Amino acid sequence: MNKRFYITTAIDYVNGQPHLGHAYEKIIADVIARARRSLGQEVFFLTGLDEHGQKVQQAAQAERKNPQEYCDALAADWQAFARKLELTNDDFVRTTQPRHKAFVQAKLAQLHAAGHFYRATYTGYYSTKEETFLTEKDRLPDGTFDASYGEVVELKEDNYYFKLGAQQQWLIDTIEANPEFIAPSYRRNEVLGFLKNNKLEDLCISRPLARLNWGIPLPFDPEFVTYVWFDALVNYASIADAHPDLGLWPADIHVIGKDIVKFHAVYWPIMLKAMGLPLPKQILVHGWWQKDGAKIAKSTGNVVDPVAVINEWGVDALRFYVLRELDIGPDGNWTDAGFRSRYQAELANGLGNLVNRSLSMLKRYRNGIVPARANELAADAARAADETRALFRQSQLQAALQSIWGLVNRANKFVDETAPFKLAKDPAQAQRLDEVLYNLAETCRVLAVLLWPFLPGTATKIYAQLGLTGSPDKLAEATWGGLPAGHTIGEPAPLFPRKDV
Ligand code: MSP
Repeated sequence: MNKRFYITTAIDYVNGQPHLGHAYEKIIADVIARARRSLGQEVFFLTGLDEHGQKVQQAAQAERKNPQEYCDALAADWQAFARKLELTNDDFVRTTQPRHKAFVQAKLAQLHAAGHFYRATYTGYYSTKEETFLTEKDRLPDGTFDASYGEVVELKEDNYYFKLGAQQQWLIDTIEANPEFIAPSYRRNEVLGFLKNNKLEDLCISRPLARLNWGIPLPFDPEFVTYVWFDALVNYASIADAHPDLGLWPADIHVIGKDIVKFHAVYWPIMLKAMGLPLPKQILVHGWWQKDGAKIAKSTGNVVDPVAVINEWGVDALRFYVLRELDIGPDGNWTDAGFRSRYQAELANGLGNLVNRSLSMLKRYRNGIVPARANELAADAARAADETRALFRQSQLQAALQSIWGLVNRANKFVDETAPFKLAKDPAQAQRLDEVLYNLAETCRVLAVLLWPFLPGTATKIYAQLGLTGSPDKLAEATWGGLPAGHTIGEPAPLFPRKDV
């Protein structure tokens, strides 16, 4: 059996509403999932929510709600958000689901029995206000702790620890032997640098009930709940296990943000090794968005509301902008002006104008009937299709869009060069006009296929305007010559209405 391509996103904390950063990551994963399906692979795409731990417990308390009810209410919003983004996820995990909790507990019991954990007493300085242990590094120059920590007390606490330290060299060797394991390569180098220059501490995997109760109880000690990251990371495997007939594990790609690399590239591989499970093929790390050069933060009001953007401009415009503007890796900066300018130049004047004038002319000059095949743009279309196919296999989404827009621009230039509106006035040029119109209509068809993973709604509209039934969702259809002579197209209509601002 051809193994399914299994792709995941980070699971978001349910302590508020989704923002641009969450949208970005889910769009990346969705485009890769659709691209793989378009390449003909079977895909399983997982996203979901991280519902346990202190952050969520505190957010629920602030609203005087019981944490489960709090999560249930917000989970509905997040699932609606996934639909709004037109994600094609095959499952949606919530870490409070019994299928996940049972799996985590089974793995904890297995690891405990195999001697991967030990219990130890830790003495340290604890801020009750921040609910966190402080270290020597947190002390001010005068030896005290910042007032923001409130009262700091010396606390002695028992916990369970996972023996990470023993696997340090194994992990270095594994990362070095698998150059694709962490991408982009500078993230891989950072992880290797960290591992080679620091001694890996064992990981505390429990929280005493007295300090936190919103978590999965340790199966071997009811006085403790599981540390939220040990619970959350396991979602990738618990949900694979929940679909045993699909043979999902190991995952092909975990898409995550740069702030959580250590959890995925250090803790998770060592956890998997202890569980006896193979490692994921790749951890694909994206950068962070800012807005107007400053951190996105609710507290300062510096936010981009993805739902508002979608309502005003359409979901395809959002999907396009975030992937065209920012490669997977570096940090990006959202500006409303930048968004509008790409919308006008690349979507409305570029793609939208090409499709609209190509199909309108075919309608006007040839009654919407496709003329005989002509091949002037065939080589350009083939190049874009070949490049897109290769770039999809490497999750190079920005580069794929650049390649596709190479074809959009080429075709728009072709209209200017051949001036079909002039040809139409000269009956002696009828055959030339036929050729031009075929080239343009067929290019629009190929573009719909190449664009489908990015702009599913737009691609579907292009197919409908071409009068094609079926969906532009298979790259195999990007081969030149798919439009048969004599076929009647549908009704042209603007894809990206102009907005005058
Ligand atoms: N719950 C953990 C992840 C557990 S994965 C087993 C978590 N949640 S989060 O809600 O804080 O972040 C979820 C994802 O959103 C992370 O990958 C994070 O990097 C990403 N982003 C959060 N803010 C972001 C931006 N401003 N820009 C881009 N991505 C950002 O961490």
